[in-house]
Amino acid sequence: MPKLLTWREDWSLHIEALDRDHRALIDLFADICIRFCPEASSGRCGDANALMDALTYLGESMREHFRREEDFMRGFDYEGIGEHQSEHALLMAEFTAMLREWRAEGMQVFDGLAQGLVRDWLLAHILGADRSFAEAYSRLCGREDDADYQRTMSVYQSSYRTSLVRR
Ligand SMILES: [Fe+2]
Repeated sequence: MPKLLTWREDWSLHIEALDRDHRALIDLFADICIRFCPEASSGRCGDANALMDALTYLGESMREHFRREEDFMRGFDYEGIGEHQSEHALLMAEFTAMLREWRAEGMQVFDGLAQGLVRDWLLAHILGADRSFAEAYSRLCGREDDADYQRTMSVYQSSYRTSLVRR
C-alpha cells in the first residue's frame, strides 16, 4: 500500500476552523485507503458499492467544507473569493467525473493509482488556493511580518507545484 497521507503541521493555514476541516478530510481519505486498498482483508476490499459510498461521502464532506470556507471568506470580504469559488467548482467537477468513471468501471479496489488521484485532488486544494487566501488573511491579522510563516507558505506552494508538473 502507498504511504498513508497524514496531516502535517506545516500545512496549517493558522485558521483553526479550516485546519480542522482539512485534517478531517485527510483522515477520511486515509480511512478509505486502509479499508479498500488491495491489501485490505475481511471482505471490505472488493465491495464496489461500499467503496463508491465512501468516496461519495468524501466528496460531500469536501463540498460542505467549501461552503464553510466560502462563508468564512465572505465574513471578511476576501477580494479573491470569486476565483476561489471557481476553483472549488472545478475541483468538485473533477471529483464527480472521477467517481462517474470509477462507478462505470465497477471499481472494487482503491489501488495506488486511484489513491494518488484523490490524494492530489485533496492536496491541490489544501496546498493550492487556500495558501493565497491564508496569506491575505494573515496580512489582515497583522502576520505579514512573520518571515517564518511566509517562508513556509512559499516553500510548500512551489514544491507542490513542482511535484504536480513531474507526475
Ligand atoms: Fe480548504
